[in-house]
Amino acid sequence: MIRKQIFPLALIAAAALLAGCKPSYPPAKPVSQLNPREFRGYQVYQQDCASCHYADHTGDLHGPSLFAMYQKKYLPSGAPANDDRVSATIMDGHGIMPGFGNQISRQQLQNLLAYLHTL
Ligand code: HEC
Repeated sequence: MIRKQIFPLALIAAAALLAGCKPSYPPAKPVSQLNPREFRGYQVYQQDCASCHYADHTGDLHGPSLFAMYQKKYLPSGAPANDDRVSATIMDGHGIMPGFGNQISRQQLQNLLAYLHTL
């Protein structure tokens, strides 16, 4: 009797453990549902980032995927996934990634961050 009740629980626990090993994230917000600011960020992304980073799925292009970037605690480099670090990466560059400090205005950067938060 008791065994019958424990078995399903054990299955759920095992599934939770497996899920914990390879976390899956909710899909990015569809472009059609972006607010105006996020959409302007999406346009910056298309122009300056999409050639090197996927935004809608995991997997590397020239750089690491940015999908679910803010849903994780750390960036691929191990730095914390927060606006300060991401802004510095975008403006100053990182490793072989070029910096965009001369091309992106503060306003565009804020829009871009808003968009990245929807991924
Ligand atoms: C020419 C290709 C290229 C472009 C364009 C580019 N990146 Fe990158 N990006 C890279 C590469 C390569 C890395 C990995 C660098 C490393 O680990 O040294 C990277 C890393 C990153 C990281 C992770 C940093 C970390 O600490 O792990 C973020 C965030 C990022 N890019 C955001 C962006 C955004 C936002 C844009 C658009 C403004 C952009 N990138 C444009 C190539 C690019």
